[in-house]
Amino acid sequence: MNASLSLPFLAPTQFWPAWQRVLDAVVVGGRVAAMLFGDRDGSAGDASMTCPPPDAIRESLASFEIEHWANKEEDTLTALGGPHHFHTLELVARRLR
Ligand SMILES: C[S@@+](CC[C@H](N)C(=O)[O-])C[C@H]1O[C@@H](n2cnc3c(N)ncnc32)[C@H](O)[C@@H]1O
Repeated sequence: MNASLSLPFLAPTQFWPAWQRVLDAVVVGGRVAAMLFGDRDGSAGDASMTCPPPDAIRESLASFEIEHWANKEEDTLTALGGPHHFHTLELVARRLR
């Protein structure tokens, strides 16, 4: 199950149920891969988006073995060319139970 730079565009009331549905849909032994925005992202103040602290995502993965975890920050340009502070979280996790 992969979600790359899509779930952050959901407001928190939609993001957390959607994230839980993604995790629930992964069979034991299967993997979830995701690119999310963290709480220091330039969009963190946008109420229509969700940029959680990486620790909140880590806590949601209690039934998973985290195989890849990259918490990155950089100042660069968006796809539309505007400046943006990106705080991205990349993860791959395998469901254990
Ligand atoms: C930054 S793009 C990433 C697209 C692709 N995953 C990639 O890595 O190139 C964000 C994607 O989220 C989608 N998106 C944003 N809000 C959405 C929503 N509420 N429901 C479904 N898709 C949404 C956009 O249409 C867009 O395709």
